[in-house]
Amino acid sequence: MNKLSTSTPRALECTFVFCAIWAFGSSLGIGDDGTDYKLKFSDWWKSHQSAKGVAFPPRDTIFDYWLDPVSNVFEEWNKSPVFKSVTFDSKTMSMSELTVPTGESSSVAFWMNSLVANGYPVMLCGGAGQGKTQLIAGMLKDLDADQYDTLTVSMNFYTSGEALRTMLEGPMVKLSGSTFGPAGGKKMVFFVDDLNLPMVDKYNTQSGISLIRQHMDYSHWYDIGKLNLKTVIKCQYVSAMNPTAGSFLINPRLQRWFTAFGISAPNEASILTIFSTFLNGHFETYGFEKKITDLTEDIIKGTLAIHNAVAGTFRKVSERSVRAFWKTSILAMKCAKWLQTQWLHPLLS
Ligand SMILES: Nc1ncnc2c1ncn2[C@@H]1O[C@H](COP(=O)(O)OP(=O)(O)OP(=O)(O)O)[C@@H](O)[C@H]1O
Ligand SMILES: [Mg+2]
Repeated sequence: MNKLSTSTPRALECTFVFCAIWAFGSSLGIGDDGTDYKLKFSDWWKSHQSAKGVAFPPRDTIFDYWLDPVSNVFEEWNKSPVFKSVTFDSKTMSMSELTVPTGESSSVAFWMNSLVANGYPVMLCGGAGQGKTQLIAGMLKDLDADQYDTLTVSMNFYTSGEALRTMLEGPMVKLSGSTFGPAGGKKMVFFVDDLNLPMVDKYNTQSGISLIRQHMDYSHWYDIGKLNLKTVIKCQYVSAMNPTAGSFLINPRLQRWFTAFGISAPNEASILTIFSTFLNGHFETYGFEKKITDLTEDIIKGTLAIHNAVAGTFRKVSERSVRAFWKTSILAMKCAKWLQTQWLHPLLS
């Protein structure tokens, strides 16, 4: 938000509506029975907006629009400054290095960037393979390296409080007495991935989660070996978890710290944007002929159609395995001949 957002009563009202829908609705997602709670909330909001008040375009949900602070008009997210087109060079880049912005991911990135810049903890929650890790990795990569250090910790069943403390302390330096913090006057952003995976002990506690909770509550933790207290400052947390795996929920005393965003499976337009960026980049890098490069959209749509047909017919497979397959397949394509024999033939026959 900037000064423009509150400069007139109209601007203030639009800004209030924009913030309110995300404050109340950011954590909504798809229920176990398939109910889309974001859509329900959007329909409810639209049915209560008065004709004279701030109205959203009738198409799509209220979450699909960004408030342009200059014109005070709700625009699609791909018109917002967080949305940028990116290119992929398959000779010099690895696919996991590149986070492709989509309309959907831009909305979360917009709020996440602003929350992190202001020191607020953020959590992304959603099913496997929905791009949580990739989205946060993209945000961390864009942070100003002169101001921020980052550390990514992936939790697993065996991550205890003590193991986690050792990892978090790794990049810390002594600032004074018993006070520790990141070196060079920077701030530290800890990205704790798969936060809810550690084992729940017989006291119904996940010690790693208790350590983070203690740190966020009091800016300190204890060195269990030396039995002394360490104040650890200038640190903030960003996390991701899949609430259908691990402990499902985490201790509410930690959860309350986070602004949570429900992440759902990317829609077809987003998947098309992500894969065309990789596929076009790869075709360009290796100088594929035009008759092949023209097929990008058809190849992706055809593959998605096959995936949807298989997913609808057979037992559920995770989106992640499909994307992993895609990533290895794209990198394996070194020439048009490969594409013709390995890819197009089964697809077209
Ligand atoms: N916007 C994107 N740009 C590029 N790649 C993406 C994007 N979104 C997802 N992917 C790719 O999709 C795959 C799954 O994404 P990711 O690992 O981030 O999912 P996740 O939600 O963290 O899953 P899990 O809960 O299993 O950890 C990864 O290979 C990732 O690189
Ligand atoms: Mg992940």
